[in-house]
Amino acid sequence: MNKIATNRKIIIDEILSDLALLRKDSSYPSQYAVVQTIEFFESLDSFWSNIKWLSLKAPKLKREQLLELADFPSSLFAKWDKDTQLKLIELERRPFPGIVKPLVDEITKFILGNTSDFLLVGNLGCGAMEIERQIINELIQKKYNKKIVFVGIDKSSAAHELAKNNFRELKTLVKIYEIDQLNSDVLRKTTENVQGQYTLILAKNNLLTLDKFFKENEFDLIFHSLFKHHLAQDEKNQLDKIISKIAQTAYEYDGYKNWPLIFIHTIYTWNDPAFLNATILSDLRYFSKYQLYKTLTHNENIKFFSRGTYLKRLGMKRDL
Ligand SMILES: C[S@@+](CC[C@H](N)C(=O)[O-])C[C@H]1O[C@@H](n2cnc3c(N)ncnc32)[C@H](O)[C@@H]1O
Repeated sequence: MNKIATNRKIIIDEILSDLALLRKDSSYPSQYAVVQTIEFFESLDSFWSNIKWLSLKAPKLKREQLLELADFPSSLFAKWDKDTQLKLIELERRPFPGIVKPLVDEITKFILGNTSDFLLVGNLGCGAMEIERQIINELIQKKYNKKIVFVGIDKSSAAHELAKNNFRELKTLVKIYEIDQLNSDVLRKTTENVQGQYTLILAKNNLLTLDKFFKENEFDLIFHSLFKHHLAQDEKNQLDKIISKIAQTAYEYDGYKNWPLIFIHTIYTWNDPAFLNATILSDLRYFSKYQLYKTLTHNENIKFFSRGTYLKRLGMKRDL
């Protein structure tokens, strides 16, 4: 066996032995997800057994009960998080397929079109804040000269570390703060004396209680990217309500179910079992285009992109 294949086999075996531990833990509630993830990793033994799993088993899975490795308890699975987040940055930086470009363009347009001297922009489930890195680079090129505070909230410590690293090249322009639990007062104290043009604040707040810690309409803009499929349906509904309270404008960016792309993603991520899991399980958790259309309220609109993603402008409370 060549080196990549051997390494891949070692990783799959290690993940399978961690999943076996979770399977034995009767107090862990998401056993459906554990069993399906075990079957997924067992199918990675050969390309054809995985294609068989994708064709026969995957279409029958209960979408809303699936989880990715990063959603399982961090005590066992955090070790795969950093590598998976790194692969995501690498993918998001590639001009083709420009996976987050529609969102970067829309937010850059929003910022440039806003006349305010100071903007507060929140990103929920922000990962390594690659979106902000691309937006800031665009703004530099366009000679934008007003102040922006970007607040990134993510539960993952690996994401925070990678976010700090991701801004190394911009360190003279971007000041970074890490504040475990952020609220309006701490935000005001942190930002009232900022000198530089761009400030980044990394936090770990529980997203489903943000309305208890921030004022109505406090954020000029809130967005999230490749994140919403991680939530259960009741959490998705709750998050929409919270965002519509604390933000003036909001964008949701995520993937939609697209079977041809699932097969293409399998080929491209085949050598990285943890990233393959994050990619394919995300694909299987996504809503179809039809389901997404059905979620729209009269004051929302949605655009679909051939790279398998959609951009939705959320309806705000005051517009209802
Ligand atoms: C696929 S990554 C996307 C990262 C980033 N938004 C991007 O587009 O590059 C999903 C992120 O959501 C975070 N996440 C998942 N569930 C979360 C939760 N309940 N609270 C906060 N962050 C969460 C993960 O840690 C991860 O960084």
